[in-house]
Amino acid sequence: MAQHRLLFVCLGNICRSPIAQGVFGDVAARAGMADRFFLDSAGTGTWHIGNPPDPRAAAAAARRGIDISGQRARQVRAHDFSDFDLLLAMDRTNQSDLCALAPEPHTAGIRLFLADAPELGVAEVPDPYFGGNDGFEEVLDLVEAGSRALLARLA
Ligand code: 4NP
Repeated sequence: MAQHRLLFVCLGNICRSPIAQGVFGDVAARAGMADRFFLDSAGTGTWHIGNPPDPRAAAAAARRGIDISGQRARQVRAHDFSDFDLLLAMDRTNQSDLCALAPEPHTAGIRLFLADAPELGVAEVPDPYFGGNDGFEEVLDLVEAGSRALLARLA
């Protein structure tokens, strides 16, 4: 069966999208479907290229048994719009930035990551970078729910 190629996208690629890559990978692995997916993450911004995840993001993921420390930030590139099947934006700004960056024609879909979990009543994963630790716990909660919903749709 063909692999789903998923790219998780936020602004800096050091908080939300590395968490989403790690959590979705964990959820898929627990469901015995790790080999059905190729996963990566990227940012629309340039500030943190080459950097590991924010220590607060890595700690919040580690508290839930997920190691994201090996990831390194990179920027979204034109090839991503054909190398991946689906680009999953953490918020509406990320989504509109992706639409502006997308070469024409392109084959990847561009969706809000939480679009499959309307029961959450939240469309966006809020940017935790300038806030406190509570923000990272909220990101983990939303990303876990969003990952289960996304897996249920794709599986
Ligand atoms: P992320 O969070 O988009 O979830 O990785 C941010 C990280 C860094 C910045 C903004 C958001 N920044 O402005 O440097």
